[in-house]
Amino acid sequence: MRPLGEPLPPPLRAHGGPLADLFARWLRQRDDAAHAPEKAALTRALQALSEDEIRSHARRQAAIAMRGGWSHWSWAVPAATVASLLGLPMTDLDAQRRLHGRLRAMAAGLAATADQAAVKTAGEAATALLDALDEAEQRAPDAPLQWTLLRHAAPSRWSDRATFAANRLALIWQSHEAGAALLGHALLRMRETRRALARDELLTIAREGGAVRNTRRVDPNGDVVLVPLAGTDHPFGDGAHRCPGQGLTLGTLVAALTWLSEQADLRLPAPGAPLTLANMDIPQFPDQNQEPSP
Ligand code: HEM
Repeated sequence: MRPLGEPLPPPLRAHGGPLADLFARWLRQRDDAAHAPEKAALTRALQALSEDEIRSHARRQAAIAMRGGWSHWSWAVPAATVASLLGLPMTDLDAQRRLHGRLRAMAAGLAATADQAAVKTAGEAATALLDALDEAEQRAPDAPLQWTLLRHAAPSRWSDRATFAANRLALIWQSHEAGAALLGHALLRMRETRRALARDELLTIAREGGAVRNTRRVDPNGDVVLVPLAGTDHPFGDGAHRCPGQGLTLGTLVAALTWLSEQADLRLPAPGAPLTLANMDIPQFPDQNQEPSP
């Protein structure tokens, strides 16, 4: 949701490029007449995903990510699971690290202080992901989330193909930081419970601020107002912009944490300082904080 007359944040307005084009098409940033029908189609596509498919892709990504250490694990699993469900070849650690690198480049380009170089690099990372998703659509149209998108939210249901493609990529982007925040806080809670967490326990952590703490709305004067989410019953937002990815997120995290709890000699990670963003804290588990494995 952008202030009236300002569809782009200043760095994107100043430097333009592929990321600026994507940002302006994202449902998250729009309140135009096409938002509601496009959002409804996207929501149907996400709801059509089966729990079994989410579980098997999440477990596979959790197993691959464990080879990269804890800091990689809590960052990689949410976004890599969505990418895998979209048919991207998330078959090894390098693929997960490449995806993570591109998402961090996008984050740097979306930062309030982003300079021309950061916006350019972010645009290249986003373009590489758009191309990979187009290639996956040709090579693996039966990948679970590609299939439900093409079935319930095909390009013909969007203003144009570019808006379809931008919001398909947004599924990976939206799962990235928010997913790492909730998974990181779940790992901290698992240090106490010594067992996997259930959906309702993850929702409790999100309500307590362990996911996205606030969101934005545009008031009748066209000004952006902050809407608290932490401490409310709506950690995934509410109304027209409510998160359509709640079910996918909770299914992914429960599956990954259950896989984790089945591992022998499991030593849960020791946290370092969190990455603090404007609307969330993302726990970090730097390798140097971890006890050497026996
Ligand atoms: C822990 C993980 C996640 C959290 C905490 C989260 C939270 C949120 C929140 C708070 C919003 C804004 C809602 C509002 O302003 O009312 C949002 C929007 C959105 N989320 Fe999520 N999300 C998560 C994961 C995901 C995933 C996995 C997907 C997709 C696969 C997703 C897709 C979206 C989309 C498309 C929007 C924009 C909706 C719109 O503006 O109409 N999110 N999310």
